[in-house]
Amino acid sequence: MRAVLLFFALAVPALSQLTLLPKPASVQTRPGSLIFGPDARIETNIDEPRIAAATARLTTRLGGPVNLRIHIESPGNPVQSLDEDESYRLETTGHEALITAPNPLGALYALETLLQLLTKTPAGWTAPALVIEDRPRFPWRGLLLDSARHFLPLDVIRRNLDAMAAVKLNVFHWHLSDDQGFRVESKRFPKLHELGSDGDFYSQDQIRGIVQYARDRGIRVVPEFDMPGHSASWLAGYPELAAGPGPFQIVRTWGGYNPALDPANPNVLAFLEAFIGEMAPLFPDQFFHIGGDEVSDHPQTELQARFNRQVHDILAKQGKRMEGWDEVLAPGLPKDALIQSWRGAKSLADAARLGHDGLLSTGFYLDYTEPAAKLYLVNPAGNRTLGAEACMWTEYVSAENLDSRLWPRTAAIAERLWSPAVTRDIPDLYRRVAVIDAELDQLGLRHNVNYRTMLRRLAGSNDTEALQTLTDVLEPGSLRVRHHANPNYTQSTPLDRLVDTARPDSATARQFTAAVDRWLANRADAEANREIARWLTLWVANDAKLRPLAARRPALREAGLVSAALAKLASTALAGKPARPIPVAPIAEVNIAVAPAINKLIVRGYRPAYQSYPRSAQ
Ligand code: ACM
Repeated sequence: MRAVLLFFALAVPALSQLTLLPKPASVQTRPGSLIFGPDARIETNIDEPRIAAATARLTTRLGGPVNLRIHIESPGNPVQSLDEDESYRLETTGHEALITAPNPLGALYALETLLQLLTKTPAGWTAPALVIEDRPRFPWRGLLLDSARHFLPLDVIRRNLDAMAAVKLNVFHWHLSDDQGFRVESKRFPKLHELGSDGDFYSQDQIRGIVQYARDRGIRVVPEFDMPGHSASWLAGYPELAAGPGPFQIVRTWGGYNPALDPANPNVLAFLEAFIGEMAPLFPDQFFHIGGDEVSDHPQTELQARFNRQVHDILAKQGKRMEGWDEVLAPGLPKDALIQSWRGAKSLADAARLGHDGLLSTGFYLDYTEPAAKLYLVNPAGNRTLGAEACMWTEYVSAENLDSRLWPRTAAIAERLWSPAVTRDIPDLYRRVAVIDAELDQLGLRHNVNYRTMLRRLAGSNDTEALQTLTDVLEPGSLRVRHHANPNYTQSTPLDRLVDTARPDSATARQFTAAVDRWLANRADAEANREIARWLTLWVANDAKLRPLAARRPALREAGLVSAALAKLASTALAGKPARPIPVAPIAEVNIAVAPAINKLIVRGYRPAYQSYPRSAQ
């Protein structure tokens, strides 16, 4: 009996070793595995263009067809909506995968799960035999991308939609206008994009293409046109809509309060009625986001509240539900308006009390560059909370480094929104994040590729080893750090420095910090000690290589300064005497992510293990 149990323990992949992200609601493993043979075919019980496209993508990714049966109970809505059933069942047996879902959306997600289960072996693609029954915790799992502050080309949008689909996010909130840019072609009011965008805008055909691309992946597209504030780019072409005297220009800097549409001017309402009438069919989703945030430093609350009600009614005539940032919440706002919290989760409780559904974005601002572990534990709660959105504002983000600020961290948020609330194991999250990181890389995301490109550009050479050894333990400073360091950033400031290259949530720093924590918990842990000593020695030696390069190359000057600070920390820790911590403020807007752990070693009197070892005789 024991022997039999042992056999099964070896043969059946342990549940804890599956690398699914987000984690499904329920997984039952079975003995054995699925191996797709050469006789593969895909059967679907209904003709559904989204499923046909998704199975074609799967076949391409796997380099050949697979044995797959898909049963969908009903065809789904012509425009994807919030109330569709997204559940699915996926069963893998000896030779085939079976998917059943009430709606095509579930089948799309099941295909993503299947992709995550498959590994290539000499015998072919294989997956553990199992049954997954899965459904999302929240129906609204969004990501905001800000195309206004820095324009994001179509290929950037498309590949990030691919990544969203891979982790079962289902709403692309597209921030399309702000003080710094108006990014959609308007045929009714062409001066919006002509004078508001520097030529960087999406044509209506391109918008339709993105909406279709998203639909094919089970993703809704909710446009945001921010009003009445954050609207300087509208006023560049239509100054007569402003609350004050013009002329107006696109704003090139960040923050601050800029001119607004005049909420009391009937011509503004007439303009918006025509504009929304043009945009409503272009964005078929039921929801339409009107922004409404940060209108003025002297809020005229009743004025804005009336404006919001009027815009609500314009949208309702187009069959749309209004959505706005939490500033729009006021008594008298029609109850079907959806409130998106960004200033504090309390606004969702306030919204619910007034009868509104809500979305949480407080805590999910990706531009604050917080680690996945922190984002992961932000928990949307409340009886009228439809879900949440991660927000990627692009003041300090370019098309080149966008992916590295989104991925893999956003996968942690995706799991928070999909998986049961009890899923909270941080080490297991990071284990699976490392896998999804590589999968997204395969899918064409550029968080890794562009990191290396940016390192080569800084180094001015293909030899980036020393620079990468440094940059791997750095993280970009927070939004606050960046703004304080340089309030003169503009839209055309190149984002190609060390701080733009460094990535949030350094994996190397996490690994080093874990070794430090192991050693602090047990000073006799020789393996942890040796790992620590190897890293510290590496950083000191790396500084000796990097600083001469930095002295010759202006693009590396900041790297030289940061490297010197890291080397000082590392050599102090290696000196083996307890000392005061070395204060480390951000240098060149960059944080040394290993500094807190090194300072713990310094304070606690770390002694490197190698000091007690004899030198090797050579
Ligand atoms: C916002 O961040 N102003 C919504």
